[in-house]
Amino acid sequence: MNEVRILDKTFRELISEQSIRKRIDEIALQINREFVGSEVIFVGILNGAFMFAADLFRKIDLNARITFVKLASYQGISSSGSIKELIGWNEDLVNKRILVVEDIVDTGATLERTVNELVIRNVADIKIATMLLKPAAYTRDIPINYIGFEIPSKFVVGYGLDYNGFGRNLPSIYTLIR
Ligand code: IMP
Ligand code: MG
Repeated sequence: MNEVRILDKTFRELISEQSIRKRIDEIALQINREFVGSEVIFVGILNGAFMFAADLFRKIDLNARITFVKLASYQGISSSGSIKELIGWNEDLVNKRILVVEDIVDTGATLERTVNELVIRNVADIKIATMLLKPAAYTRDIPINYIGFEIPSKFVVGYGLDYNGFGRNLPSIYTLIR
């Protein structure tokens, strides 16, 4: 299945399920090494990051917990710029080591907002993992510690990412062609 149709748009496979799996194994290995001996709280950003967070978390061999927060900034296929915080932030994060888990970093607005929320909660330190990064669109200077794949600034779906709510269940990542 190389092309998929979602609502009024057509997408072509960009990153296969197998490449995603392989990359997650590499990132998990890196995280397991870098956090060895520490407790860590994974903070997944809903909805998009649920799949990456689940696949990454099951490869983690640390004293790890996971929680999710829900932020939304997208409408249709472009970032609205304003972020609505919807749910979350009810864990005690004071002095905890945090690994933020994002599906994709585009402009970085969501990431910045998330990092700000963590800073005011006096966490011990913050690392960021994202499955995808659009480097040409990224306008913030928060360092991103673990990056699955860098991709062009084109709209993508699948592997947790949606187009108007659909396409999240696709096991590979697809890019908009028409
Ligand atoms: P940012 O705040 O502009 O970095 O956008 C980040 C959020 O927008 C991500 O967490 C995604 O949920 C969503 N997003 C950004 N780019 C895409 C895309 O290409 N497809 C689907 N969702 C996207
Ligand atoms: Mg997201």
